[in-house]
Amino acid sequence: MPIKISTNDDLVLTKAFQDLLSKCRLPGDASHSLPPACYGSLSVLEAEIETIFRRTWLGIGRADCVNAPGAYATLEIASASIILLRDTQQALRAFANTCRHRGARLLEGEGVCRAISCPFHRWTYRLDGSLAGAPHMEATKDFEKTDYGLIEFPVAERAGFAFIFLDSTPPDLDAYLGDFEQLHTPWPLRSLVSTRHQRFEVGCNWKAFLEVFNEYYHLKFVHPNTIDGIYGLPDPADTTVGAYASQYGQTNGTGALLDDEQGHALPLIPGLEKRCANGARYTWVFPNMTFAAGKDALWVYEAYPLGPERCKVRQTICFPPETVALSNFGDRAAYYYRRLDAALEEDIEALENQQKGLASPFAIPGRFSTLMEPNVATFANWYAQRFQATI
Ligand code: FES
Ligand SMILES: [Fe+2]
Repeated sequence: MPIKISTNDDLVLTKAFQDLLSKCRLPGDASHSLPPACYGSLSVLEAEIETIFRRTWLGIGRADCVNAPGAYATLEIASASIILLRDTQQALRAFANTCRHRGARLLEGEGVCRAISCPFHRWTYRLDGSLAGAPHMEATKDFEKTDYGLIEFPVAERAGFAFIFLDSTPPDLDAYLGDFEQLHTPWPLRSLVSTRHQRFEVGCNWKAFLEVFNEYYHLKFVHPNTIDGIYGLPDPADTTVGAYASQYGQTNGTGALLDDEQGHALPLIPGLEKRCANGARYTWVFPNMTFAAGKDALWVYEAYPLGPERCKVRQTICFPPETVALSNFGDRAAYYYRRLDAALEEDIEALENQQKGLASPFAIPGRFSTLMEPNVATFANWYAQRFQATI
């Protein structure tokens, strides 16, 4: 069933645009990069919201960002504010952040609550979303509190990550993820503990942020004095089944510390063996979550569009519980946080420059290095397929 695109600009429906998308779907070494309009056009963003953000499972970071009854975090997912919380039974739940009375926003940021209480007229919802209290509504005809619970969305946890589907009838998540959990078996992802979250905005399209994290090509040129010395040439990309791409590469030390601070390395993640004990796996779970599973830490990014040329990013870093329990963990983890901040600052400068170049009226699609940026090519293929299947 074609999806109606609510825009006056029907760029995404033109044959020229569709032809460019078809070139992204050519196999492996023949594929082209996404059309530059995908990084700056409002009509493309509106189509992405319809065809991707409202139609696929979305990775929304580590499930332990809400880890006790009443703990909540709000997320802005492609113009929809969502409340993610743990209910009294420790189940993960997700609700639209909009009151069922007259629509006020219910919660901001993150925190812990016993109930969700609207700041406007104090309608109050239980942690399962049901309406518990609505003052002065006794005389309202046919008003039943059971009819006015919060709008709820399907959520699930896999490998310690949370996933949401922003509609009522999700496809099977395990079929969507394919062999994702199997490929990551060497890393005990489920048990890793989040120790720092950051949120920030970047002046680039959401896809560009995820792309730069997933390619080795820029390391030598964007990070020559911070992290390039750790990374060698990566392995060829893994062949994956499911909506993700992954590439492993060996490292000379840990990719989670700066080149000149390797002496501060924390212990190996328990259970890692052989090649996995000396490298990092870079994985992109389509569309908007990516992470690196290193030898000592896991670092995760989600990118959410704020507009065609601006995105909001959430960063999380995790360690094994044994590492977090070390007496000097805080001091040693600070070196890891510094490495993330340093590389990020360099990436943001590169991304904001790329965004300016993509805005040129003369920008046209390019080609990929099959060894250095296969995850980016696999995403372009997946994205083009989603677009063409649903428009
Ligand atoms: S809008 Fe929430 S109680 Fe009125
Ligand atoms: Fe980078």
